[in-house]
Amino acid sequence: MNLIEKIRKPIEKEIEQFEKSMTEELQTENPLLKNISNYLQLGKGKQLRPILVILSAKLCGEVTESTIYGAISLELIHTASLIHDDVVDNTFQRRGQPSINAQWNNKVAILVGDHILSKSLSSGIKADNIKILETIANVGMNLTDGELLQLDKVQHAQISEEDYLEIIQKKTALLFSSCALIGGLSVKADKNTLKHLYHFGEYAGICFQMKDDLLDYSENNEIGKPTRNDIKDGKITLPLIYALKNATNHQKHEIEQWIENSDFSDLHIEKIVQFVQENGGLEYTLQKMEEYKNKAIEELNGFADGELKQSMILFAEFMSNRDY
Ligand code: FPP
Ligand code: MG
Repeated sequence: MNLIEKIRKPIEKEIEQFEKSMTEELQTENPLLKNISNYLQLGKGKQLRPILVILSAKLCGEVTESTIYGAISLELIHTASLIHDDVVDNTFQRRGQPSINAQWNNKVAILVGDHILSKSLSSGIKADNIKILETIANVGMNLTDGELLQLDKVQHAQISEEDYLEIIQKKTALLFSSCALIGGLSVKADKNTLKHLYHFGEYAGICFQMKDDLLDYSENNEIGKPTRNDIKDGKITLPLIYALKNATNHQKHEIEQWIENSDFSDLHIEKIVQFVQENGGLEYTLQKMEEYKNKAIEELNGFADGELKQSMILFAEFMSNRDY
């Protein structure tokens, strides 16, 4: 049994219910949407977000219809954001298959993303809880806010660790904290419990993005999306931020110049990867990621021991152990 299977074990029945309702939500008469919807099912990913919604709910009570629709809504807003992200980033592979913009084109990808975003809101309404809907709307605003902040920092070699944290809080961690929060809200958990669930998701989410940024520097071909994409796009993530801050040699200035001029030949990219390795950028990010994983697990201290809490701990561990 792999780690994801272990995490899912105590919620198998609820995940089945989620998948059934999700298929019903995606029913459409439009042939192109039907086609793309089937295509997305093929590469539906690890479903980390619905898993987190359901685990958080079941940790506090009985999973309800509200939990399932909350999970659907969050998975759909996430899917919509990735479809748009591949257009923004001009990336052609996602989850081991050609992205929608590659398989069809940018126009189709934007419109399908819009459609799925609207579906997300309509599923959110079915959760029948205004706080859940408010949380989902807030995710949408923060995803775009984070992406715009990131866009603004492209070509800026001086981006700080604080800027980086703000970006990843908005573009990634808030979605995870909202999953845990919505899980709790869907079973009417108390305020203090909601606070701990929220922070668990937030720290696990930061850990997830740090791992994502580390994977971009790896040699792994099994990730299901291209590596070196961040650098090619001029995205300066923590490994490079740290290396640039701490290096003193002339290469630092050379690399800053390449970033400012978007001068990313294959040779420059490999030199940047080497620079990050030699100046401790990977070790530092790894260390920070472990810190956030431990912070996430600490948030679970007040919850009763058992298989659900164990799955939540494994969930946090997966965020840093995953190699895809
Ligand atoms: C992946 O990051 C992308 C995101 C976390 C969010 C993208 C959000 C948008 C494009 C805004 C659209 C929002 C809505 C609500 C439709 P990445 O590019 O660092 O990672 P990757 O390697 O997986 O592409
Ligand atoms: Mg991207």
